[in-house]
Amino acid sequence: METSSPRSVAALPKAHLHLHFTGSMRHSTLVELAAGHGVHLPPALTDEWPPQLSGTDERGWFRFQRLYDIARSVLRTPADVGRLLRETAEDERAEGSGWLEIQVDPSGYANRFGGLTATVELILSAATAAAAATGVGIGIIVAANRTRHPLDARTLARLAAQYAGQGVVGFGLSSDERRAPASDFIQAFRIAERAGLLLAPHGGELIGPASVASCLDDLHADRIGHGVRAVEDPLLVKRLAADGVTCEVCPASNVALGVAAGPRDVPLRAFVEAGVPVALGADDPLLFGRRLAAQYLIARDAHGFSDAELAALARTSVRSSAAPPQVRARLLAAIERWLSAPALHLPRTAVVPPPPDRRTAQPCRGGRA
Ligand code: ADE
Ligand code: ZN
Repeated sequence: METSSPRSVAALPKAHLHLHFTGSMRHSTLVELAAGHGVHLPPALTDEWPPQLSGTDERGWFRFQRLYDIARSVLRTPADVGRLLRETAEDERAEGSGWLEIQVDPSGYANRFGGLTATVELILSAATAAAAATGVGIGIIVAANRTRHPLDARTLARLAAQYAGQGVVGFGLSSDERRAPASDFIQAFRIAERAGLLLAPHGGELIGPASVASCLDDLHADRIGHGVRAVEDPLLVKRLAADGVTCEVCPASNVALGVAAGPRDVPLRAFVEAGVPVALGADDPLLFGRRLAAQYLIARDAHGFSDAELAALARTSVRSSAAPPQVRARLLAAIERWLSAPALHLPRTAVVPPPPDRRTAQPCRGGRA
């Protein structure tokens, strides 16, 4: 069988704007570090990896968090942090990403690495080394946790502000949206805003449009992590488009966590057709089994995006990033070269690698793919 869209999505230059620090770890590295540090991994992270997940009910989210916490616990030494960032940058480069914004809540590591400031400095120096080794530019987004006290978020915002322009490019808000409204974090986001950081809270993943509206109204979000449930409110979709607020859409994550019944239920087309800027992200490949290029494959295979449309998504990822002007210019020019290169007509099996995830390789839950 031949395909009419055979350009390699891994060769498409792009930026990656939605990736979590722990969630970016290679599965093989998780297994190796766990063995080295004597950490017992449950079957969901060994023989049964990638795990069957659900984030739409409290129990499912709790299980997701528990697996996440176990994964975080294998990062014990500065060398582990250096390894994670170097391997992540290598994987990004292999998938065409020339600029990565990786988000981290340093509180999860502060006990091990001598406090919050020391943790941020460790991550920044590991990111600098990884960028130098791979040529992939890396910006850090310090992300507060919605399930913790808003005062903790303010502490993190001050810390992020201190390193603005020195590797920290943004401020985020992650974890379970159902547990606290965005409005609890107004003061933290004002601190980050005054420091000139890009504001990128999660919203519209686990709850509906009101959560996205609050990220815009209360937090002055420049981008929304996920944002997919904004699709339930046509006026909000129009607003995202009119204000040029990029949604960091993570299709494999949405399917794995049950936010979307299947790849075709992720509102990618609806957003793009309405003019909402969309940047594709992988969120947590460690738990969902798919990295960045696979998200572009979903756009192609489940939503029929042409190469020109995939290139437009890649352009949006670059334009919505905090990458320095010379990196943006280089990536944008490379996207044009990718698109203007003649498409090869190869057998489909030769250009679409089999998905690593046995579950998502099949017609997805909801059955429409
Ligand atoms: N932290 C890691 N992955 C997340 C997700 N999908 N939603 C919210 N917080 C997260
Ligand atoms: Zn996320």
